[in-house]
Formats: sequence, C-alpha cells, structure tokens
Amino acid sequence: MCGIVGYVGPVEDGTALEVVMEGLTRLEYRGYDSAGVALVAGDRVETRKRAGKLENLRRELDEHPLPVSRTGIGHTRWATHGGPTDTNAHPHRGGTDGKLALIHNGIIENFHALKSELIADNVAFASETDTEVVAHLLAAAYTTTPDLTEAMRAVVARLDGAFTLLAVHADQPGVVVGARRNSPLVVGLGDGENYLGSDVAAFIGHTRAALELAQDQIVTITPDTVTVVDFDGTPAQGKAYEVTWDAAAAEKGGYATFMEKEINDQPHAVRDTLFGRTDTDGRLTLDELRIPEEKLREIDRITIVACGTAAYAGMVAKYAIERWTRIPVEVSLAHEFRYCDPIVDEQTLVVSISQSGETMDTLMAVKHARELGALTISICNTHGSTIPRESDAVLYTHAGPEIAVASTKAFLAQITASYILGLYLAQLRGGTFADDVRAVLEELAEIPDKIQTVLDRMGRVKEIAGFMADSRAVLFLGRHVGFPVALEGALKLKELAYIHAEGFAAGELKHGPIALIEPGQPVFVVVPSPSSEHGLHGKIVSNIQEIRARGARTIVIAEDGDHDVVPFSDEVIRVPATAPLLAPLLTVVPLQVFALWLSTAKGLDVDQPRNLAKSVTVE
Ligand code: AGP
Repeated sequence: MCGIVGYVGPVEDGTALEVVMEGLTRLEYRGYDSAGVALVAGDRVETRKRAGKLENLRRELDEHPLPVSRTGIGHTRWATHGGPTDTNAHPHRGGTDGKLALIHNGIIENFHALKSELIADNVAFASETDTEVVAHLLAAAYTTTPDLTEAMRAVVARLDGAFTLLAVHADQPGVVVGARRNSPLVVGLGDGENYLGSDVAAFIGHTRAALELAQDQIVTITPDTVTVVDFDGTPAQGKAYEVTWDAAAAEKGGYATFMEKEINDQPHAVRDTLFGRTDTDGRLTLDELRIPEEKLREIDRITIVACGTAAYAGMVAKYAIERWTRIPVEVSLAHEFRYCDPIVDEQTLVVSISQSGETMDTLMAVKHARELGALTISICNTHGSTIPRESDAVLYTHAGPEIAVASTKAFLAQITASYILGLYLAQLRGGTFADDVRAVLEELAEIPDKIQTVLDRMGRVKEIAGFMADSRAVLFLGRHVGFPVALEGALKLKELAYIHAEGFAAGELKHGPIALIEPGQPVFVVVPSPSSEHGLHGKIVSNIQEIRARGARTIVIAEDGDHDVVPFSDEVIRVPATAPLLAPLLTVVPLQVFALWLSTAKGLDVDQPRNLAKSVTVE
C-alpha cells in the first residue's frame, strides 16, 4: 500500500524534490498515513518526513527547506510495524554518518532476529519499524563494499518477506538503487533522467516509457543508465512497455470524484475488455494466454481466489462458468485458501482476480497454488503488477486506472473477463454449450449500451440516497447471480457510507435474517429476470412480500416490464432486460450509485474512505 518514488536527473537540473513530491501526490490514492523525502545534497543525505497527509510534509519543507538536488526518493507510508508517527515515517537513515537513506514497501518477516543482531552490535534505533533494520544493514554492508548496488545485493540475501526497497547514498550522487520481491516496482525511462515508482502513476507526468522488473531483481538508475541484476548478481533485462493511459486519465474528467467518473466509465470498461478477443468469425481467440489448448482441455476443477469486490466477481463467474463448461468452480477467499489445505493438482485451474495485481493475500494464494501444481491464470487490471508475473498466464481487464479506493468499473471488467474465460473454455472443450458461445458474445456486446441506459436513469437513486442518509442499517437480498450482487452492494455501502450493511441470499431470510426486518427497515432486492429458470423470479417476489408484510421499505432492482414486483415495492429501479447470467453487469450499477450519493450526502471522502487503501499489499 505504500507509495514509492525515486528520481535521478541531470546535474544542472536540481529538480529532484519537485519530481518526487509530484509523484507522491499522484500516489496518494493508494492510501497512507505519513510521508517523507530524502535528497542527496553534498556529502550528506537530507531527509524530511511527517505523519499525516502530504500537506504536513509540504509544511515541514516550507519551514525547513531542503537544498537543491538531482537525486531523491520519496515515500507515502501505510503503517504496518509501528504507528503512523514522524519517527516511524520513511525514509529511514542507516548508520551514523548521515550518508544513507532507505524507503520500503512490504513487510520484513525476519526483522526481529536481524534487529537483535544489530542491537548486539550496539546499533541504536530511532523507530519501531522493520525498515530501519534494513537501513542499518545496508549502511553496514556499504562500509564493507562501498557500492550501493552490491551492498543492496548483500542485504536482500538476508531478508525474508515482501519488499520494495529504494536507497540513496551521499558518496554516490546521481544514483538510486531499488530492489523488489513480491512487491511492486517499475522503472520510468526519461531522456537524461530516470524514475522509479511503486506504480506508473509515480512518473506518468514525465514519461510513458516503462520497464517492468521481475521477481528478486535489483535496479540501479543514473540520469543516463538503467542496470538490472538478479539477486544473485546475474545481469538481467527489464521488460519495456508503453504506459497506455496518460496523466489526464488519472484526473476526474469533469466529475466531482474519481468514483463518479469510474462508475460512468463502466460502459467503456466492459467494451474495452471485450475488444479484440474475437476473430472475424466471431470465435473467441485468447492467444494472449499462451497456454496450449490441450492443457486447458485437461482442466477438471477451477478455483477462483480473490478478496473483497474481486471475490464477488468470482462468485458471479462461478454460476456462468459452471453453466457453460460443466467444470466444478469453487470460489475461495484468497486469505483462507492457503490455510484450508485446498484440493489442488495438475488438472486444477486456479484463477486469481485482482484489480491492482498487488493484493498480498491473493498473491500468496497464487504462489501456493503453483507450489501445489495448479495452472494459474490472473485476471488483472494493472499491467506490470506482481500477480500476473507470478501466474502462468494473464487475462488483462481493460478498465483503465481505477483510482477510487472503492472498486466499481474494475468489478464489471472482472466479471466480463471471467465470462470471456468461461466461454473460451466452453468453446475449446466442445460439448453441449460450445455452439451457444457466439450467442452469449452477441448479448455481451450489447451490455455497454445497456449499462449506459441504467446510468441515464440514476436520478431517482440519487434522490433515494439523499433521504436515506440517516439510515443506520441497510439490507441487500438477491438470488443466484443476484446474491453476489447483493454482497457487493452491501460492501459498497460499508466502504463508502460507514453504515452497517449486509447482503443475503434471499432464500436464507426465513432461516434467521428475517428477524432483522422491522417497520421502515430499508431493503434492496436484486430481482432476477422473469425469464430466469427454476421459478427464481416468483420465489423472490414471495420474499419481497414477506419482508413488506413486516414493514420493510423495499427498493427493488427489476427488469423493464417486470410488473409482478410493483405491488410490493416502495421503489422500483429499472434495468434493461438481458440474459439472466449477464444481469449482474446491470443490476450492480444502481447499488454503486446509491453508495456514492449516500456517502456524498454524508459529506464523506468518497475516493479515499477512512481506514482503507486501494491496494492491500500486506497480509
Ligand atoms: C472493493 O471496493 C475494495 N476496494 C476491496 O474489497 C478490493 O476489491 C479488494 O481489496 C481486492 O483488491 P484487488 O482487486 O486490487 O486485488
């Protein structure tokens, strides 16, 4: 979750502080609780750091200006070891000569043992952090080997855990050294200057030429060179790529919040995720997976691993993939998967779903699945992120940068990509459904316009949010693919409006939750299409009657033309008719919009809700 920026520029330039602070500002969305910078200036490294928002650091820099420099690193911290204080903020100094500073994202799992060793050598510690241990180790290594790259190599060999490290040393002006294991670090390639960042937002304002680093690599940047080595010292090459979205994409595009912009981006997110994945005959082509077709035909079990909203996308996918392929699909919360002794073998496909590609719980689940012999495919929205690199294959969603902490367009893109994968497996494996793939793809192609239709109808939802701003608890009901939609609607409200909200499978009501219904209790009901099989529609209409009879305030999401729900609904929010399995792409939108406007009505921070970060890069 920490934001990391590194910069080296031409000597006559001296703009390191401005570049680093701009990068930290663009990384604010990742969530943080303190920030700091370090610059190489003369024979010292100067640091400034403050708990709280970047504004506090800017004030500190105004009161205690730093000298001009061409070499700098910057950090926004999400506290793991040690509270969010000035002392625990990064950068951390190593040694006592004031020549070395280090920043870190991740967790050093063996830092206690290393710290004890250093204390035994009379090293004094200022902070409670694991990072400061690494800074002192690096300073000691540099004394032995006065080369920052080689000293870094010696240190990372002793570290267990996940880390991105950046370091500078006053004896090597114009050099920044970075190292990564299970944590993000990308290189920005400039002309006579180079950048490092925890993601491309750190340098997007300066360059879109980037270099992806692999696991266990060290990168050394100077104004004119970028050198990569493996932890064992073997020279390596980063993988060059062009960042396809520009700084403007990370702006709000005229909306009041990133979340409002991203909700309204959803037709594009789905359309762009579908784009380019069918051939001229309308058949799905996923050459990007680079997995032999016979390997995919051997799959006899699928497990989806993800967290939060991404897990709910997986739950929607389960219904569709099982229907189309008849392969059993299990959805496992990533942080549970590793510890439940999962049934996984060479015929198991483990699909991870992650917007950021850096969620540590999901990353560790993928690594565990690979150790057990599974084939792993990542559905991910962030190019160059860690989870795709740790997977056998990746199916990128093309939702564009999702800045708001609460996931919206990525959720729809994740469902879309999951459908694509399920249809592709069905197409490959033949069977009863293979001929219907094209029909489903044609229905999917209509979804972006249908989402737009829903977005154009959201005025009433905004009004409902306004007069429900004082609600203390809201319930969400759904059946079949509407059940994960209900869970997602509840999560959005929790995240954004800090209101207790709970999603239920509607059939579960009579087994306990109906006791929660009292006069005026708001309940959203996601109604399946009247064309759904198994009488699902009639069953949920009965559920609505049951709760209405007990005084619930029913807000019903229903298809155009569904009149059966009207007598029992205080509000009916209409969505266009579509194939039942594709309905979540439409029915979730009013729930996203409701949460957005209720949060706004309460005057809360829609884009950066309290306690949350965009990417949870610690377990
Ligand atoms: C959803 O609104 C939350 N931001 C959170 O549940 C998120 O979906 C989850 O942490 C997974 O993140 P990822 O998709 O980046 O892996």
